[in-house]
Amino acid sequence: MASTQNQQDGTIASFEGKRIWVTGHRGMLGSAMVRSLAGEGAELLLTTREEVDLCNQAAVYAWMEANRPELVFHIGAKVGGIHANATLPADFVRENLLIQCNVIDGAYRSGVQKLVFVASNCTYPSLAPQPIAEDALLTGPLDANIRSYAVSKIAGIEMCSAYRRQYGCNFVAVIPPNLYGPGDNYHPQHSHVVAGILRRAHEAKMQGADEFVVWGDGTPRRELLHVDDLADAMKYVMRAPTTHDLYNVGCGHDLAISELASIIADVVGFKGRIVYDASKPNGTMRKLLDSSRIRALGWVPKVDERLGLRSAYQDFMQILEDPARRARIGD
Ligand SMILES: NC(=O)c1ccc[n+]([C@@H]2O[C@H](COP(=O)([O-])OP(=O)(O)OC[C@H]3O[C@@H](n4cnc5c(N)ncnc54)[C@H](OP(=O)(O)O)[C@@H]3O)[C@@H](O)[C@H]2O)c1
Repeated sequence: MASTQNQQDGTIASFEGKRIWVTGHRGMLGSAMVRSLAGEGAELLLTTREEVDLCNQAAVYAWMEANRPELVFHIGAKVGGIHANATLPADFVRENLLIQCNVIDGAYRSGVQKLVFVASNCTYPSLAPQPIAEDALLTGPLDANIRSYAVSKIAGIEMCSAYRRQYGCNFVAVIPPNLYGPGDNYHPQHSHVVAGILRRAHEAKMQGADEFVVWGDGTPRRELLHVDDLADAMKYVMRAPTTHDLYNVGCGHDLAISELASIIADVVGFKGRIVYDASKPNGTMRKLLDSSRIRALGWVPKVDERLGLRSAYQDFMQILEDPARRARIGD
């Protein structure tokens, strides 16, 4: 068994010629990562779920042993919005724990040089002081609606840190806020906030409805990040010396769900009313990240929110015209 005992500082000078495994490359962030790595001269190793089920330990270990990735962007996970998390908590915790154990331990066993793992801002306590710094992790109770998913992601962060402490592995985690962009999941039961509102606004417009409904009372605030910005940030973290094992990656400001819904209605061209269903959970009221640690590496987000939402809407329209992609969003 190879060890990743690494005496260097964790810097990756270049991706040129590197064998890089992007897990979950067919998803929203994974495909952004593949786009971002194009032109870097890397040898991308991409596996579909059918080829390597990340929940299957034997399959993951065998594939890693045979293919020997040098760098891993670990993105693949079971992902969903508040409804999916509330109804399938066992699936979320089990699948994500299995995937993380297999990929992170497999990376140690097969001698991966550096791994960057994507966690989520739901790992922070629901009443964490704002903006939330990395040291707020494990300082208070989590939002009950997404606790199973959050606990699995906390375990992934801890695995990166523990493998670094015990074996000297260069394994690092990043925490993004709500993501959006091309390839988002517009499934009515599995979507996140941006995709969910965008779909409902579009359907209301197409049906000529006077209103569409948004879950919660509209007051919770959310920080958004375009997936292309996160993919770029993950490359910064991969290249940087491993001085920290956790980085927040946010755009630096948040907006109320009601403001977001108005912007999306405008982008979609829906002219009616937006109604808030306060009987549905609000989720955590605010989770703005303190991203000064990654800013110190020189990373800045580049995608303008309104332009990013416009391009997300264009992508949604393309999905509606493609029967294969349409089937994936429950249409
Ligand atoms: N979306 C957000 O707002 C958000 C926010 C914070 C953090 N994150 C994190 O960012 C990462 C990517 O999220 P995303 O929104 O891009 O998710 P996504 O679009 O649902 O993509 C997830 C990918 O993981 C793959 N996957 C899941 N289980 C698998 C398994 N057992 N074997 C092989 N592949 C498997 C999926 O494969 P298939 O293509 O076969 O389904 C898919 O390609 C996740 O780690 C997520 O926790 C997302």
